Amino acid sequence: MKTFKIAILGFGTVGSGTYEILQTNHDVIRKRIGADFAVSHVLARHPEKAEMRGANPALITSDPAEIFQDEETDIVVECIGGLEPAKTYILEAMRHGKHVVTPNKAVIAANFEELTECARENGVAFRYEASVGGGIPILTSINEALAANNFTRIDGIVNGTTNYILTQMADNDLSYSTALKMAQDSGFAEANPTADVEGIDCANKLSILMALCFDTYIPPQDIPRTGISAITKDDIREAKEKKVLLKLISHAVLLDDGTVDCWIRPTEIPQDHPLACVNNEFNAVVLDADMVGETMFVGKGAGALPTGSAVVGDLIAIMRGRF
Ligand code: HSE
Repeated sequence: MKTFKIAILGFGTVGSGTYEILQTNHDVIRKRIGADFAVSHVLARHPEKAEMRGANPALITSDPAEIFQDEETDIVVECIGGLEPAKTYILEAMRHGKHVVTPNKAVIAANFEELTECARENGVAFRYEASVGGGIPILTSINEALAANNFTRIDGIVNGTTNYILTQMADNDLSYSTALKMAQDSGFAEANPTADVEGIDCANKLSILMALCFDTYIPPQDIPRTGISAITKDDIREAKEKKVLLKLISHAVLLDDGTVDCWIRPTEIPQDHPLACVNNEFNAVVLDADMVGETMFVGKGAGALPTGSAVVGDLIAIMRGRF
């Protein structure tokens, strides 16, 4: 029986969640794929922190070259986050013939064409289901189950931190800063939460969704965006009086001339709108497509295990030979 070797780069929220799932559900996954697998390395800048989070000390290294040059390592999971060294490590892994899985929406959205091209050139898989919507299988649905369609519209709540903040402000009358602190403590927010609250994280995710749905790469910095950092308790109170909810919506529509109109902004939605019941760290993506019509995907968009679930789903696809 083949044993796949998996290296995890970075052992923060998603890296450790991925590791935990691979340990906890090892037997059922092994049975499903008909092959065995093991974590070969954990790359960690602070080995003691990785150990405290549950990594086997014998697997921890601070030398990425050790991983790229290890001929037995089949798959590299990049969970470092941010642009560099994540991009360099992803390219290096691919050039060494390793399949790559990443939840890192920032590095994908900034380098979409270069990373996908490098994977193609090297004949390796590049999968990133966890980069959009956390545990929601939205990218695989677009690429596989819905691949018969022309997509025409995307509407989504794709940032768990901001949805959590807006929900807590509305439901529990909390201030913006208290709710943000709670989101950070729960492991939903980025290392620098500016990316969440100013809509930058949404822009990365919408850029990826548009690339896959419309086959049009629009860099995240070209997407007009307004975040939620200016939302006050008064805004929330006014919304309640108007019987609407404030949600940070990411929107894209394919126009008749083939161009795309897209934006990210706090939006008033009626209380009976399908997105109105998507609360806290939950995300949702609504797609409109010519054959299937409207579909809506809902689930936890942030957190170690939901996001790790999507990472491990990609690992399973690769181990099953699907890429
Ligand atoms: N900070 C992100 C969020 C994590 O809150 O949605 C998941 O991408």
